[in-house]
Parts: sequence; C-alpha cells; structure tokens
Amino acid sequence: MKKKNIKSIAVMTGGGDCPGLNAVIRAVTKTAITKFGLEVWGIQDGYLGLIEDRMDVLKYDDVSNILTVGGTILGSSNVANPFKFPVITGKSRQFKDVSNKCIEVLRGHSIDALICIGGDGTMASAASFAKKGVTVIGVPKTIDNDLYGTDITFGFNTAVTTATEAIDKVHTTASSHHRVMIIEVMGRYAGWIALHAGVASGSDCLLLPEIPYRLDKICDFVLARSKRGRRFSIIVTAEGAKEKGGKMVVAHKLPFSPDPIRLGGVAVKLVTQINEQTGLDCREVILGHVQRGGTPTPFDRVLATNFGYTAIELLMKGIKGHLVVLKDGNLSSIGLSKVAGRIKTVPRNHHLIKAALAVGTSFGI
Ligand code: F6P
Repeated sequence: MKKKNIKSIAVMTGGGDCPGLNAVIRAVTKTAITKFGLEVWGIQDGYLGLIEDRMDVLKYDDVSNILTVGGTILGSSNVANPFKFPVITGKSRQFKDVSNKCIEVLRGHSIDALICIGGDGTMASAASFAKKGVTVIGVPKTIDNDLYGTDITFGFNTAVTTATEAIDKVHTTASSHHRVMIIEVMGRYAGWIALHAGVASGSDCLLLPEIPYRLDKICDFVLARSKRGRRFSIIVTAEGAKEKGGKMVVAHKLPFSPDPIRLGGVAVKLVTQINEQTGLDCREVILGHVQRGGTPTPFDRVLATNFGYTAIELLMKGIKGHLVVLKDGNLSSIGLSKVAGRIKTVPRNHHLIKAALAVGTSFGI
C-alpha cells in the first residue's frame, strides 16, 4: 500500500454518544501530536460540522482531563449523513449528496486524513468517503455492541454496568412487593445489552430481538415461579424484543433522520399483557438514555485508549479505509467496505445463551 505523507488529521464523533468517546479523542490527539508531530483538527457535531465547516485545531492541553468524562467534547449528531443530507425548504424536504462539499472543506484546511469515531451509520459514510479517495480510519463506538467486524465496541461495557446496577436495585423492590418487574434496555436490533446485563444481574427472563418470545411461555414461567414461592420475577427486555410473529414496538419516527426508527415501549405493552393473563402485579422500568451517560468503566477507558492509539498507528503505516477492531483479543483492522450496511446481532447458539439456559433463565420460548 502506498504511504501518503500525512501532516494533518481531523477527528469527529458521529451518531449517538456513549461513554469513552472522549477517551478516544484524547488518545488520537495525544498520539498524533506526541508520537508523529501531526496537526489535529476537532470537527464539531459529527458529519454536520464537516458539512458546515465547523472545526478547530486541538492542542495537547485541549484533550487533557477528559479521559473519565462521558459524552464527547466535540459534540455529535445522528441525523447528518453527508450522502443523504436532509435539505428543508418550506414544507418540502429533499435528501442531497453533500459529500463533495465535505471533501472541499477538508482540502481547504489541508487535512490529509479523517478519523471517524462512530457506529454503523458513521462507518457507512466513512466507507463511502474512502471510496471517493479520502484517507479514513474508523473507530468502533456504540453501547449496542452491534458493529460488524469487531468483537466489542467501546461504550458497551459501561452501558452493561449501568443497566446491571439499575436491575440490581429493581430486584429488591420487586422482592418486597412480590411484583413482576420488566426492565427495558437499549440495543436497537441487537440483544447484547439485555443478554449481558440480564445474566450479570441474575434476572429470571431475558427477551432479545434475536429470539422472538411467546407471551404464554413468559406467563407460565412467572406463574410457576410464584407457585414455587418465588413471589417476584425480573424480566429484562431489549427495546427490540418482539413476540413470535409480531413486530417491534416503535416509540418515535424521525422523518429527517437517515435511520428514522426509534424503538421503545415493549415493556409497557408486556406489563399490561402479563398482568391480564396472570393477575400478577407488574411494573415497567425503561432505562433509556441513562445507559449512554456517565463516566466510562476502566474497561472502556482502556479499550478506547487502545482503539485511538491504534487508529493513528495504522494511519501512519499507510493503512486507510479500515476500521480498528478487537478480534479474538487482538487489535487489528478490517476494510470499511466489509462493515458498511451490516450489523452484528446475538447468534442463537451464543455461549452466554447456553449458560443462561443452563442456570434456569427463560428466554420466553
Ligand atoms: O445506538 C445507540 C442508541 O442508544 C440505541 O440503543 C437506541 O435505540 C438509540 O440509540 C436511541 O437514539 P436517540 O438518541 O436518537 O434517541
């Protein structure tokens, strides 16, 4: 691969935020400055800042003291896709390809390479920019852990920790009031958070998008527990869980977003249905965006630092159009074109599903 002489880079955070973004920005910026003497630009609000030419030079001190801070100092946007950008005039809305304008903006600042920190939407655009000749390296972010090509994304461990702590708290009140508590966690179309937080909290029943549930099986399970003297049950449901033959529950539709569906509300539906069928007292807890906030766990701080450092190392070795990944315990990379348009869901034969089943956990089937 021909090595490009890189003197200046830009870094951006796209899509929904998550804990660990600042840790990557710090690792990218400090490695680029101290090890390679590069100039670093920070683009504001993801691709939106690139489209609107909003960016500033990041100095070493600008990224000090941010390792432990949640969110992103650069800001983010999950509605700005440069290849399908919503342009609104009066009541009409059109999607336009503004990618050439982004390339001109990069050229205007003499930026040689772009570090895109984001999830599947951000990587799809990064892959398209790579095809147009932009030197890009992707860094995998998302609490959902659904990015194809990497075993884990940073942000996931923190979200699982937050969800587990919340479920632990719900456990005690469920027990006191002999209730069925249904906790809804995020994750979009993948059940990674529900599976991990559910197993970590010793929850009784886990509902994942990958395993459509049967309402009668869930009801039989909680009634059987009740009859055995276990007078409460904890059900953890992924926001994307659905009944066999049914549909996912949609909370919002965002017409101007390239990814317009926002899931949510399956726990509310289940509370009514399980109460009607069993007579048991049921309550829902929807954890929502709390899972995206707070300080990253030590695991995520380390992963984010490794990812950010590796992104710059790869770039300076002449690699481009790749996503940094952790595969079988090793840091490596994969072509962005292999990642674009795909997501990683929980395989039905995943070892953690087998372990959960072995300890008596129900999956509502
Ligand atoms: O992808 C991260 C995530 O938090 C999903 O788990 C969730 O479905 C979605 O983003 C929520 O998006 P928004 O922040 O637009 O409500």
